[in-house]
Order: sequence, then C-alpha cells, then structure tokens
Amino acid sequence: MAEEQKQRLFIEQLKQVIEERAAKKGSPVTCHITTMGCQMNARDSEKLSGILSEIGCREIESEDADILLFNTCTVRENANEKLYGHLGIVKHFKKEKKDMLIGICGCMMQEQDEVLRIRTKYRFVDLVFGTHNIWKFPELLYACTTERQRVIDVEEETDDFRDHMPVRRKTGFKSGVNIMYGCNNFCSYCIVPYVRGREKSREPEDIIREIRALVKDGVKEIMLLGQNVNSYGKTLDLPVSFADLLRRICRIDGLLRVRFMTPHPKDLSDDLILAIRENPKVCRHIHLPLQSGSTRILKRMNRCYTKESYLSLVKRIRTLLPEIGLTTDVIVGFPGETEEDFQDTLDVVSRCEFQSAFTFVYSKRTGTPAAAFEDQVPPDVVSDRMKRLIDLVQSHASRVADRDQGTIAPVLVEEKDRHRDGYLTGRLGNNLMVHFPGEEAWIGQMVDVELVESKGFYYMGIRRD
Ligand code: SAH
Ligand code: SF4
Ligand code: F3S
Repeated sequence: MAEEQKQRLFIEQLKQVIEERAAKKGSPVTCHITTMGCQMNARDSEKLSGILSEIGCREIESEDADILLFNTCTVRENANEKLYGHLGIVKHFKKEKKDMLIGICGCMMQEQDEVLRIRTKYRFVDLVFGTHNIWKFPELLYACTTERQRVIDVEEETDDFRDHMPVRRKTGFKSGVNIMYGCNNFCSYCIVPYVRGREKSREPEDIIREIRALVKDGVKEIMLLGQNVNSYGKTLDLPVSFADLLRRICRIDGLLRVRFMTPHPKDLSDDLILAIRENPKVCRHIHLPLQSGSTRILKRMNRCYTKESYLSLVKRIRTLLPEIGLTTDVIVGFPGETEEDFQDTLDVVSRCEFQSAFTFVYSKRTGTPAAAFEDQVPPDVVSDRMKRLIDLVQSHASRVADRDQGTIAPVLVEEKDRHRDGYLTGRLGNNLMVHFPGEEAWIGQMVDVELVESKGFYYMGIRRD
C-alpha cells in the first residue's frame, strides 16, 4: 500500500533525526503519551507509542519529556477540562526546555472550536492531529521536528490505514483489538459519532491474523473493541455476524480469554448469547450500557430500546449464562428527566443486580441534538439523584460479590498489588479483581485463586492450584 510505504519512509528518516538529537543531547530522546478516554484511545496510544519506540525514543513516566503527546477525549466536558489542566502545567516545562515538542491528538481535536482555541491561545503546542489521520503521525512528526514549525492537520473523514502502524503494548499478556471504528447510532447526547466518524468494520481475516500474531507474541487475553460490537460485519462485502466472528476467534490456539466492549442493548442477539455459552474462552462479563431506565427518556436519547426490552434481554442473558457478571453505564440528569423517570432507572438497577456501574452526570456536548433540549435538570437535583443511584449500585454490587465468596476461580495475574507488599492483583473472568499473596513471576499467568473474603467490589484470596 503506497500510503503505508510513505509512512515507513518517514519512520526511517525520523530514526536519523532522533539519533542526531540524542547525540547532541548526550542522552536518549525521551517521550511520554498521556491518554484520556476509552479503550479506543488506549489502543490508539499503543500505536503512537509503537512509532515513537521504533524511531528510537525512550518512553518515560513523567510529562517532562522531549516529545509529549496528549491523546484526548471529549465525551464529557470534564474530559476537555482535564486537557487544559495538563497544558497549564507543561507550559512551564517547555519554558525550561526550548526543544520540547508538545502534540495533541484524539477525539477533542476533531472539534473545530477546540482546535481554534489551541491554535490561538496555546501557541506553545507544536503539533495537532485528529482521529482520522492518526496513521499520518510519522509524516506530521517529521514535518514538526525538521521544519521547526507548528503542524496542525485535522481531517473530516478517512480511509483507515491505522491497522498497519507498529504497536507497542502497555501490557505484554493482554491487548485490545479494534474490530470496527466509528459509530452510526447517534444517541442524542453523544459526541462520539461526530469525532470518530462513520462505522466501519475490519475484515475478519485481518482481525484473526492480528490476534494470531499477538498470541505468538505472548498475549493471553484480548478485548475486542467497537462502539457497538453487535453491528460488526453488516456492511462487509461478505457480511459476518459478531457472534460468528467470536466463534472464529475462540478457535485460535493459545488464546486463553476473549472479552468485548461494547454491545448495545438494542441489538444483542440470542445467537451472541449462545456463542458466549458455547465458548469457555469468552469471559463471563457483559458491559451493557443502560443509560436510563425510563422508556420516555430512552426515546429522547435515541437508544432504540425500552425499559421492558432491556429487562427482558437481561433475563434472557441470565437464563442462558447464570454465571455472568453484568456491568453498565448510567447517565443522570438527561434533559427532561423527572423524578418518575429517575425512579424507573432505580427500578431497573435494582432488578438487574449489576456487579458495578459507571454513573455519569449528563454533560451537554455542543453539536449533539440533546444540547438544544431546553429542559435541563438543575444541578442540585442531579447531585441528589446521583447520590441515591450510587448508594443503590453499591448495595447491589457488594451483594453480588459476596455470593462468590469461598469459590475457586481462574484468574489472570496482572500486576503487583499496589498497596500490599508480597501480594499480586489478578482479574476474574467476570472482571472483578482479586488480591492474593504471590510471586512476581506469576504475572501474565492464569492461576486458580480461592476468593476467601469479599470486600464488596473486590476480593482477598489465596492461590489454590
Ligand atoms: N458506545 C458505547 C459508549 C461510549 S461512551 C455505548 O453505546 O455504550 C461511554 C459512556 O459515556 C456512555 O455509555 C455514556 O454513559 C457516557 N456518555 C456519553 N456521552 C455522554 C454525555 N454527553 N454526558 C454524560 N455521559 C455521557
Ligand atoms: Fe455514543 Fe451511542 Fe455511539 Fe455509544 S452507541 S458511541 S453512546 S452514539
Ligand atoms: Fe473514547 Fe472519549 Fe473518544 S470515550 S471514542 S476517547 S470521545
């Protein structure tokens, strides 16, 4: 592919540029990527990191690096504020270090107003690009470093070349895998379709090839990524369902665990539930964003399901997969939400027994249909509802976790416990964490652990195999 070769050429040239800079400096050129937002962004950052590592940069923990990138999120207003907070700090780093290169990319850079703000008020930012041309990073970085001028390059749509970028994984034994990009759902509150573009599925053969290579490289667990994985494959020349993709992926030898994120409740098929049931490699965890329990609000959100259809879906899932851990997302204070609507949300939360829930205060996103809705909910009402929701979620979560206390379950050991010396932290199939005594050498292995004590939303355990 011509474009891919062109970027490869820039990578080769950048290797020289970085080598010369390191020689002048007398130490390696350092880099850092600060990633905000969801797994999509985390995976994109691994691609950026792959390139930086290939051209000879050394990744460091601190933002005080020679090359600093912010991979931004804009799903809620506080995500935007986070970036400006960081910029306020790193501005001082750059005063001390004139050669420092500061770049911003990701979803927020697909918004014209934000790019304009960076262009005019944050003149110390050297490089700006968006989600649609992330694959052009070598070329843009090359222009920025050799011409010593600002490069601002954001595109509206893309042909996707990002699957050909080198990748540097944050964790050796697990990895995200994009199965599709973009979103066509246009939930009325959500900015993602505007900043990530139209939905596009990757060919199953490409996905399987990527996973095989990852497994060969030591990966044991993968997370299939898409804004709505249920609509995977519909627009391919040879359509493939997500359930069938999952079945094919499970046949890959050496792969131990498969997760996926996110299935939309409007079109989660019975065949997908069966595919999970048939394949023990698929983790017993489904993240099923509810958003609201009120049919009236769901309609205004353009979610395309009702309170009743959500509940009956959960019932079907639980009948066929009784061991499943369900988690969800809920938005509080969507425009027009009344106490009665909110009671419907509490009702669904009570009946579904979620293992955990991400709860978000509705955030107005310019350009989305909901931003024009007039009946915004007052902040004090929102915070009161939020408190009640969190209390309810927590009481259910601890009851759900208590149920498995005393059982033995396979765990993928992820890291050293950050709070207890001599302990490790691992993840259960249902996504809950367990801390237990162990040796660092076990990290990346699957081991059996007895869940000795439930702490509500995690466990303390002992290895038992
Ligand atoms: N594609 C996924 C979600 C992506 S965004 C899905 O459909 O489930 C992750 C979560 O952010 C959403 O589930 C929603 O709960 C929340 N979210 C998105 N836009 C929001 C907004 N404007 N205000 C508050 N929360 C929002
Ligand atoms: Fe946003 Fe809805 Fe698409 Fe999820 S499905 S990314 S909430 S528009
Ligand atoms: Fe993800 Fe945030 Fe973009 S949630 S898709 S990083 S707007």
